[in-house]
Amino acid sequence: MEKFLEHLEEFKLRHCHAELESLIHSKREFLNQAKGNLLKFRQVFEKIQDHRPSVIDLKNRVVTIGTPEDLSPEESRQLFQSLDQLCPWRKGPFELFGIRIDSEWQSWMKWERLLPHIKNLKGRRIMDIGSSNGYYMFRAAAHAPLMVIGLEPQSYFYFQYLVMQKFLNRDNVFCLPIPHDEWPKIPRYFDTVFCMGVLYHRPSPVEMLRSIHESLRRGGELVLENLVLETRQNLCLFPEDRYAKMRNVYFIPDLLVMESWLCRAGFKNIRCVDVARTSLEEQRKTRWIQTESLKDFLDPHNPDKTVEGYPAPVRAIFLAEAG
Ligand SMILES: C[S@@+](CC[C@H](N)C(=O)[O-])C[C@H]1O[C@@H](n2cnc3c(N)ncnc32)[C@H](O)[C@@H]1O
Repeated sequence: MEKFLEHLEEFKLRHCHAELESLIHSKREFLNQAKGNLLKFRQVFEKIQDHRPSVIDLKNRVVTIGTPEDLSPEESRQLFQSLDQLCPWRKGPFELFGIRIDSEWQSWMKWERLLPHIKNLKGRRIMDIGSSNGYYMFRAAAHAPLMVIGLEPQSYFYFQYLVMQKFLNRDNVFCLPIPHDEWPKIPRYFDTVFCMGVLYHRPSPVEMLRSIHESLRRGGELVLENLVLETRQNLCLFPEDRYAKMRNVYFIPDLLVMESWLCRAGFKNIRCVDVARTSLEEQRKTRWIQTESLKDFLDPHNPDKTVEGYPAPVRAIFLAEAG
């Protein structure tokens, strides 16, 4: 976190130094006073030894760091144990010194759906809202952006990111353990903002889109991925309680509603570039998650419905430019 402050001059953010320093300081205090699970994750992370990876590959589906030969069998055993203690691994896959983390999500599938459509990331200032363990930030880093800042408030995903970054050591990739609503208002700054799998968790999606719009430079690109209804009838689902067993789902728009939200938030050149039903190939239970997965969220007698009787998860990718 603190390393980010050292780059503010280079990132033309020197005017935000005081605000960012105070925010990072308060997050550091919070992490230092960790209790319960947060303390456990921190201790697991702190125990992981430094190893020098002989290879790094961010260009392919599996984010690969090092080879099995870089570690002794005992070092490998210890690393495996630590990674295991940082479960659940939702995003990935990663391969760390030969240890394959077969995450719940095959995240490369989403990346490959969006990559052919988005603007070249080279030299860009990128924000990834809800960056989880950084899988997409590291894939973006392979395209030589100026920098990628991820925001991830969930502690175990943040510590998973720290493990990867410990070995990858990218000096233009940063994750801050803060929610988007706490990020300072820095108008007209980012070239690309990824907001994927987050908007349906927000009670005020248009407000969030407006705030993203403000943070993008004119012509900057939003890459928005969200649960949708596949219709174009100006409909929006607001689950009575849970959706696919998730507690915190608010609005699931259809394709026209999503376009209207983006338009009202000030975006131009709005395009839906992909609509995909979430498959059991893309999201499934592996040994790296102990919780339920997609199969358990669908009606066992009708996989077109969730267990609550709503349409099964379909996700769309929208691109839009800040006006
Ligand atoms: C469904 S996951 C999506 C992760 C990843 N972006 C992807 O598309 O695979 C949602 C992530 O957003 C994070 N999140 C939830 N609310 C957030 C907020 N207000 N600001 C930033 N991240 C948030 C969660 O902790 C979680 O890691």
